[in-house]
Amino acid sequence: MSDKEWRTHNPPGNKRVVVTKELPGRRWLEILTRAGCKVEISTSTDILSIEEIEAAIGDRCDGAIGQLTEDWADKLFTALKAAGGKVYSNYAVGYNNVDVDAATNQGIPVGNTPGVLTETTAEMTIALTFATARRVVEADRFMRSGQFKGWLPTLFLGELLWHKTVGVIGAGRIGATFARMMVEGHKMNVIYYDIRQNKALENYVAAYGQFLKSRGERPVSCGRAESVEEVLGEADVVSLHPVLDEITHHLINRERLALMKEHAILVNTSRGPVIDEAALIAHCKEHPYFRAGLDVFEDEPEMKPGLKELDNVVIVPHIASATIWTREGMATLAASNVAAILRGYPVWRGGDISPFLGDEPPKAAPSIVNAKELGIQVFRK
Ligand code: DGY
Repeated sequence: MSDKEWRTHNPPGNKRVVVTKELPGRRWLEILTRAGCKVEISTSTDILSIEEIEAAIGDRCDGAIGQLTEDWADKLFTALKAAGGKVYSNYAVGYNNVDVDAATNQGIPVGNTPGVLTETTAEMTIALTFATARRVVEADRFMRSGQFKGWLPTLFLGELLWHKTVGVIGAGRIGATFARMMVEGHKMNVIYYDIRQNKALENYVAAYGQFLKSRGERPVSCGRAESVEEVLGEADVVSLHPVLDEITHHLINRERLALMKEHAILVNTSRGPVIDEAALIAHCKEHPYFRAGLDVFEDEPEMKPGLKELDNVVIVPHIASATIWTREGMATLAASNVAAILRGYPVWRGGDISPFLGDEPPKAAPSIVNAKELGIQVFRK
């Protein structure tokens, strides 16, 4: 074990599961306890190093739940395998911190936690959008510092988003949900870029547009752009939701920022390195009406020099998925992944994971990203 502090849950359990951070709620512990697991939990709020996790795995570890802040690659999967490990679950839907091929090479299934972050993350994306559009943080600072001397016609003028255009880059679950919320709540038109067409989103917005029209209101539209550039040039708000990989690293750079409107808003609740943060800082300095709302950072937890001094940027510490319901749901799914594999269960058939949150969860692992490669059977009723 590392010299950081750990606590043990269910000491009599005959399988050993290492969890590298305290997780919220109790249900996840009940799931692991019912599967006969003794659970060793790091109580440290520091990010554990690879060596500390390796030490915690030790020479006997059946499964592990890790964090997006940890580098789960060859070294840790080799250690896990050597300790008798049969499964790893990320406590996150994103798994860019996991070398899935390295896990597959060791025959270790990798779980993640989709389906419980969608609305929560979309809502935070909205919070950042409006915090920037209406300068909420600047105004809050102004009030607290006693500068408010009375109502003024020119005080903290921001942007009206009603009937403007929202751009989404990466129209998967979260991006599409955010788009729908902006359509329904603020009657915004949508332009999105994704390598896959999102027909469901397009149909939904078209039907909603018809509904508005039938009530004599201005309709809304949804179009798929042919390029990222097209979205950047047209949208008043651009929200980033791609998976982080070699292609999306620095997807938003100096040249692409230059294509955005003078009063545009850029929001990122995906992964920090999708934006070249130094380029964004320079752009925000040169364009005072441009605004950015950031939940994630390129060198998390650090920020590039100059970012925190900017008034036209709202920054929060990677909390887009931080609601009690979601974080407890993520714990339930991560524990269910581990417990199911240790019990020899198949993998869920995909899609709706809500049955795992109910009273009679399926006898399956909710989400194993390398299930196919490892030949794990798919759940059949
Ligand atoms: C995830 O699960 O990938 C999120 O970034 C956590 O907030």
